[in-house]
Amino acid sequence: MFQLDLAPADPILGLTETFKADTHPDKINLGVGVYQDATGQTPILEAVKQAERRLLETETSKSYLSIPGVPEVASHTQELLFGEGHAIIREGRAKTAQTPGGTGALRVAADFLQRARPQATVWLSNPSWANHRTIFEAAGFPVKDYRYYDRASQGLNGEGFMADLEGVADGDVLILHGCCHNPSGIDLDQAAWEAIAHQATAKNLVCLVDFAYQGFGEGLEEDRSGLHVLLNAGLAVLVASSYSKNFGLYNERIGAITVVEETAEEAVNAFSHIQAAIRAIYSSPPAHGGKIVATILGEDSLKALWIQELAEMRARIKHMRQAFVQGMTDRQQTVDFDFINHQKGMFSFSGLSQDQVLKLRHDNHIYIVGSGRINVAGITPANIDPLCDAIAKVL
Ligand code: LMR
Repeated sequence: MFQLDLAPADPILGLTETFKADTHPDKINLGVGVYQDATGQTPILEAVKQAERRLLETETSKSYLSIPGVPEVASHTQELLFGEGHAIIREGRAKTAQTPGGTGALRVAADFLQRARPQATVWLSNPSWANHRTIFEAAGFPVKDYRYYDRASQGLNGEGFMADLEGVADGDVLILHGCCHNPSGIDLDQAAWEAIAHQATAKNLVCLVDFAYQGFGEGLEEDRSGLHVLLNAGLAVLVASSYSKNFGLYNERIGAITVVEETAEEAVNAFSHIQAAIRAIYSSPPAHGGKIVATILGEDSLKALWIQELAEMRARIKHMRQAFVQGMTDRQQTVDFDFINHQKGMFSFSGLSQDQVLKLRHDNHIYIVGSGRINVAGITPANIDPLCDAIAKVL
């Protein structure tokens, strides 16, 4: 009846399905961005377990949430983004809605922008998270790339980035990664954030900061420094938060969309359109993940436990970066992998080609995204030696 060809598999989630179907006992998954501990498990954080126990005892109803979700998710999200007592919070210039994950936040933002900036082109870093393009094209926007990754230096293509920023037209939308760039692990430096603030002010650009990894780079406060360059310039921005990674709440689908405006009145007006967009997609968010986040961030001892557990995840990833670089140096001198020590967050662009990625999958049951992106959080003391052996062999 529909006469459709097969849709292509998702480059990240499709890979997870292929991994699950592989029966080899020593298979290694460095594909999807999911944290694994030293034993290869994706644990439920202790802070989450404690919050869930409380919720089980105290919850009295499963009636609908309001369109923006649990009110405390909004207030705590703003504290994480801006800092407690920040002027933006005091002045009522930010409004936040809880969303089904970071993807939900981005899709709500896209539908909101169709109301606010229907003529805009949406600009993505090259490369970017594969789903960015899909989301904004699905919402009807033309999507273009700005230069970002420099293969030769395995770092930021600062010149290309600045030049492409100049070419962005008045009123367009810039998608920026708040920290821990996905897929490259290469973050914008201070000069780049300042250039963005300058161009956004001059050309009335919308900056939408995708902030899916707060706390995975250097720390909760350090990771928001780029966002704060934009805020300090007085810009109105949109922020898509995710609590999938930093709370380990992947399958609870919990994130948030925040709009920061120049005045409280503008914030209220913009938020009314965000709510209208939500109503048209999913009406109101699911409750459980939001209540977990609100419970943890609402109580000092649970919050302290979460911050400690987040620091442990961050430290383990950094440690695995160093171990991987050392492991590769011990095995070969063809490629200097030191750049991986300078990248931030869960991911690294390994520099492996698509052919090498496919060979690793075929010969060694090692699963890496086609772009060569490695989920460093999937490296463990048990798999690092076979991993480094296999990679050294395909170089
Ligand atoms: C990733 O980039 O691997 C994660 O954000 C998971 C996803 O939805 O793609």
